[in-house]
Amino acid sequence: MTDVHIVVLAAGKGTRMRSARPKVLHHVAGAPMIDYVLRAASALSPRTTTMVVGHQADALKAALNGYPGLNYVVQEPQLGTAHALLTAEPVLQNETGTLILLSGDVPLLTAGTLERLIARHDSMAAAATIVTAIVNEPYGYGRIVRLDERVERIVEERDATPDERLIREINSGIYAFRLDGLFEAVRAIAPENAQREYYLPDLIGIYRSQGCDVETVRVTHEDEIRGINSRSELAEVSRIVREAKAAALMAAGVTLEDPASTFVDRDVEVGPDTIIHPGVCLEGNTVIGHGCEIHSGVRIRDSQVGDDVVILDHCVVALSSIGSQAHVGPFAHLRQDVALSAGVTIGNFVEIKKSTLGPGTKARHLTYLGDSVIGSKVNVGAGTITCNYDGTRKQVTTIEDGAFIGSDSQLIAPVTVGRDAYVGTGTTVRENVPPGALAVSAGKQRNIEGWVEERRKRG
Ligand code: UD1
Ligand code: CA
Repeated sequence: MTDVHIVVLAAGKGTRMRSARPKVLHHVAGAPMIDYVLRAASALSPRTTTMVVGHQADALKAALNGYPGLNYVVQEPQLGTAHALLTAEPVLQNETGTLILLSGDVPLLTAGTLERLIARHDSMAAAATIVTAIVNEPYGYGRIVRLDERVERIVEERDATPDERLIREINSGIYAFRLDGLFEAVRAIAPENAQREYYLPDLIGIYRSQGCDVETVRVTHEDEIRGINSRSELAEVSRIVREAKAAALMAAGVTLEDPASTFVDRDVEVGPDTIIHPGVCLEGNTVIGHGCEIHSGVRIRDSQVGDDVVILDHCVVALSSIGSQAHVGPFAHLRQDVALSAGVTIGNFVEIKKSTLGPGTKARHLTYLGDSVIGSKVNVGAGTITCNYDGTRKQVTTIEDGAFIGSDSQLIAPVTVGRDAYVGTGTTVRENVPPGALAVSAGKQRNIEGWVEERRKRG
């Protein structure tokens, strides 16, 4: 096996996106498009991976911080794809083997296709091998011009003759190149085209005129090589990823009542016999167990949900975990860092943040729980509020196992309600409540007889 080196082109301005953000950071079904490209690339165990950045290079580099081992080269100004490849020469000048050139805006290309590309390129000992596709709508892509079956050159849409525009075999912008002699050949490319840019596809014509062998591999599914240049292409590619994800989930035993309105990101996992109602969004690295039922309008991001959990309509769950057999919603908000143990019940209009709730605990109505540690089998009455913010710092509320918090109580943190204690309805808890005690803060009730009649008389 020869060494594999990867260069990813991502310096272009992405003008057609009309965006302040680098194009390759736009999300496709929940992940930046560049993440798809880098995943496919890493499956090849490359010796080096080089990103060509330019337009908004700093923003792009910052976003790619989490990817280990990337080299960066800066292309400034951006004079075309051939010019972009030349900027990677300093990294690769002493290397040999095969260069795989990827485009940051072609996210659906699979590692399998890249493996076929390398196999073909190696076995034919070609100077260049192009990934191509036969498509029904070739508009906008470079066309593969053949003579007696052999690739002769690639012509861009703008420079093509009417006859060449009828060619349905297109250039994906993905290639394998023999590193030996590559940069010398690329330097021979001239900006002789409608855009006055240095076009990498021109290398093919140059190689052929030198009698070098150029090969092709065709993708079997044309979606793989879709490039994203505009927002509508972004939406189209996202739809393709989501449809494939929905199909995979259904094949694995998940019911999607309406796949078209269910948005499940690429990396989400869902167990069998879970039922997902219309209009649900499952995002990021969410994992959902088996036998759950997720009702309409629920959005879950980067969270773990156990088995046999019911989430009723219109809940928002982020960065949290929900134990098995829990029951959540409708209209609940688990904002972040919430851990619900098994069998917890969270009801209408309950907001929870940075809190753990023990097994079997219930908070069914109109409650805010923030920065709290709540034990098992606690009953949190309607309208309970943890007053966790003292104006400068967040403070912790602790409620021990078996405690009962009466409705409309305020727990002024830092404070602890002991095991099995009771907090009377309408209590403002400012001091710790010992285990087994009853805390009441409201004064004795007074009834003023005839008060209404008196007021009426006063007018
Ligand atoms: C390119 C190919 C075309 C192919 C298509 C497939 C050229 C001239 N044309 O067209 O044959 O069918 O891809 O999607 O290569 N880039 C740089 N620096 C530059 C210019 C571009 O890094 O100076 C990067 C872009 O960020 C992008 C990639 O190269 O990731 C492709 O550039 P783009 O302008 O999108 O080329 P296309 O017009 O799509
Ligand atoms: Ca493109």
